[in-house]
Amino acid sequence: MREDAIGTAGSAAPDCSRDAWWTSAVVYQVYVRSFADSNADGVGDLPGLLAHLDYLGDLGVDVIWLSPVYRSPQKDNGYDVSDYQDVDPLFGSLEQLDELIHAIHSRGMRLIMDLVVNHTSDEHPWFIESRDRTAKADWYFWRDARPGAAPGAPGSEPNNWGSAFSGPAWEWSPARGQYYLHLFSVGQPDLNWDNPEVREAVFEMMGWWLDRGVDGFRLDVINFISKDPALPDGPVTPTGFGDGMPYFSYGPQIHAYLAEMKHRVFASRPGSYLTVGEMPGVTPEQARHFTDRRRGQLAMVLQFDHVALDHAGDKWTERAITVRDLRDTLARWQDALGEEGWNSLYWSNHDQPRVVSRFGNDRYYWRQSATALATVLHLQRGTPFIYQGEELGMTNVPFAAIGSFRDVETLNYYQDATGRLGQHAAVVLRILRRKSRDNARTPMQWSGEPGAGFTDGEPWIPINPNHRWINATSQTADPDSIYGYYRSLIALRHSDPIVVHGAFAVLDIEPPSLYAFSRQLGEQRLDIYANLSDTPAPVGVVEPELGLDDIVLGNYVSGARREGLLQPWEARVYRRRWPAPMPG
Ligand code: GLC
Repeated sequence: MREDAIGTAGSAAPDCSRDAWWTSAVVYQVYVRSFADSNADGVGDLPGLLAHLDYLGDLGVDVIWLSPVYRSPQKDNGYDVSDYQDVDPLFGSLEQLDELIHAIHSRGMRLIMDLVVNHTSDEHPWFIESRDRTAKADWYFWRDARPGAAPGAPGSEPNNWGSAFSGPAWEWSPARGQYYLHLFSVGQPDLNWDNPEVREAVFEMMGWWLDRGVDGFRLDVINFISKDPALPDGPVTPTGFGDGMPYFSYGPQIHAYLAEMKHRVFASRPGSYLTVGEMPGVTPEQARHFTDRRRGQLAMVLQFDHVALDHAGDKWTERAITVRDLRDTLARWQDALGEEGWNSLYWSNHDQPRVVSRFGNDRYYWRQSATALATVLHLQRGTPFIYQGEELGMTNVPFAAIGSFRDVETLNYYQDATGRLGQHAAVVLRILRRKSRDNARTPMQWSGEPGAGFTDGEPWIPINPNHRWINATSQTADPDSIYGYYRSLIALRHSDPIVVHGAFAVLDIEPPSLYAFSRQLGEQRLDIYANLSDTPAPVGVVEPELGLDDIVLGNYVSGARREGLLQPWEARVYRRRWPAPMPG
């Protein structure tokens, strides 16, 4: 185990006790660009969000996670920041953000910012100074070409790592006469966290936001900030590039840097802040270490195991998964973080395809599968995250052609796959319709009108044509809608401490299409049964004292329920005394 030099001693902020406010909270992610457009320029903005806060309040949301709204050239939709202390005019102004924070707080909700500090934009003044060697010369990873290789020529890169967005992870800078490292796009150079000045600048900026009133951060790819200083070649993958993950996904200083962040940014302030670390490739054991309440490095992590299950190798290849795969993966995280750590719970975000299309059946069991999946997620132990539109059952998008996509990862992959890798364009398009991040990024479907109630202008990305029947207007009025069901799930969490604190255990019963588990606290127990398939599931071993009267929540109307049988995608939550009273 790596040494957490600073982390175990001293103050415990962020507050990672089991009673921390965020253990009973529900987080809602707003991807501002696609949420609500107030000025008809086709792009969502802060006033648009402000106008919809009551919608989020009515749903029961406790925390809003705001995707990046900082100044940015928008090469990766704001995950390429050129000024951390200002709002991009595309989204509004700093004054409007202050107003938003105030309005959120006055409704009893909180706001966390997306903090993107593994890398900056290549237009950030730090990078420009570094490139020109006027200052900050080693704030980024600058390296010469491989010895003996021609600088700038393919294959001359300092190591063999591939970027997450296709191509090599190095870009030649003629201005500096060296390569720089970019784990993501060319426009996102990696910051060198081994330089104490970099850490200091980041910590100061974080404090500036906390002092402005934000309640914490979602920390973008935060486990990538410490790299093995030797930057060794990685094992070559089918893309032809090396996999650098072994050298940066859990680097030698990661715990030391997060511990330092805790002390420099959080411990010296009075608040109780939420910190959510996005950590691709993190294992349950590592996550426990990050979220262990005695260390308090992070409140929770966003892990990737369950959303990588349907990848065969990389994200562009598809593998069929079973309910058992999903159950075992989710349950492994429940067990591993147990009493010491804390889980985040999510199906969707701006990087994932829509869950009802991915793990559900958006064609024949749209409402049932969206609500069944929500049931199993929200009733596990941890803090649930909802991605905008998930609560309406928004689906993947029938993108007409490559010209309808906007995402840099998607477009780079298309170019690489149809060019260098020689794949047929129609085949690649089919993959993108299932896998592209743009599936999550089309506008929020507020209404069935043209513009979907999102914009009066030309939307920056096409609107899903199914907004005519999948939209907030039709669902908020209907208690039996997907939105209504999300509301009930959130209300159950807020009213019943079992949902927050109850111990989790898998109920290992047949058939394999069931995900069944219990949550127990004191003498109360919730049993959750969900049939995650299109086929009715006989539930032979539901114990006899559990009857239809004990159901506290279910996604089929009571008249459609059958004893001992779960309908396709049916989910039920039973409440019972435990241990069960003796018969008679
Ligand atoms: C994270 C973000 C993703 C972004 C990447 C680079 O994974 O969620 O949207 O492209 O980091 O910042």
